[in-house]
Amino acid sequence: MTSAGARPARKAVIPVAGMGTRFLPATKAVPKELLPVVDRPALQYIVEEAARAGLGDVLMVTGRNKGAIEDHFDRHPELEALLEKKGDGDRLAAVHESTDVAAVNFVRQGEALGLGHAVLQAAPFVGDEPFAVLLGDDLIDARDHLLEQMLAVQAEHGGCVIALLDVGRENIDKYGAVAIEEDTQEGVVTITGLVEKPPVDQAPSSLAIIGRYVLAPEIFDVLRETAPGRGGEIQLTDALATLVERGEPVHGVVFDGRRYDTGDKLDYLKAVIRLASERDDLGPALRSWLHEFVSELPAEGASPS
Ligand code: UTP
Repeated sequence: MTSAGARPARKAVIPVAGMGTRFLPATKAVPKELLPVVDRPALQYIVEEAARAGLGDVLMVTGRNKGAIEDHFDRHPELEALLEKKGDGDRLAAVHESTDVAAVNFVRQGEALGLGHAVLQAAPFVGDEPFAVLLGDDLIDARDHLLEQMLAVQAEHGGCVIALLDVGRENIDKYGAVAIEEDTQEGVVTITGLVEKPPVDQAPSSLAIIGRYVLAPEIFDVLRETAPGRGGEIQLTDALATLVERGEPVHGVVFDGRRYDTGDKLDYLKAVIRLASERDDLGPALRSWLHEFVSELPAEGASPS
């Protein structure tokens, strides 16, 4: 296992091969990771987050129906030439953003056999060094520096580091859940057990695993031996549980910032409204409309006229 003070992570893996069934029918042909959050695909925020944290070497694990993702992170010479000809510098810059932000590579996950299986496809790209995993539908607000904090914890303690969010006991059955020891330092906990989507009454805590991980390369050997678990999928949570059972260090960083699951319809709407309302160009008009809209809303339980 990677020891504390060893090489820092340099690479980011973003699994985007899931089916996105919670967002059907929108995601029948359009990958959920490309649904726009205001005017940019959700996935672009995530690549930017990786680049900001110093992880400019990115691998996306894609699947069928995900060709548009490759197109989005590729050049578009005809469009660029058109915008240049029109002298539309702002839109040209917006088009360049997705190609300039990071070096983006792709590998296919032939079959969507689970998040653990998706991460395993990254083994040749990652090699023998720690790396980050950012889920392609999990948006962390750019003002909250979760990934940077996780990278610092990994550099200090070695092993693996996972992001945790207190979702309340009543919601924990939708997530991977963890058992923890006392805080080792403010907001950092030692993980003593992990279980994927436990029944509420059997959950070890209300702390859920959210879509950011910094992993030691030893995870790949464990994933190769991990049998399908919950939902018949090869679960990353199960591989991490094996590492904990073997006595390898796995830490958690408890996040209390802004996070949106853009694969979930309600959370997606919240992300769009929140981010748009905070933008200089759209915010003033949207906020004023929202005030008016909310003041006219019927009381909860009544249906709008
Ligand atoms: P999710 O469970 O949120 O994705 O997986 P999903 O299966 O697409 O979602 P629903 O429930 O059907 O709506 C978390 C992340 O792991 C990726 C997904 O793309 C998402 O970013 N994933 C999941 C893979 O890359 N491969 C898989 O086999 C499963």
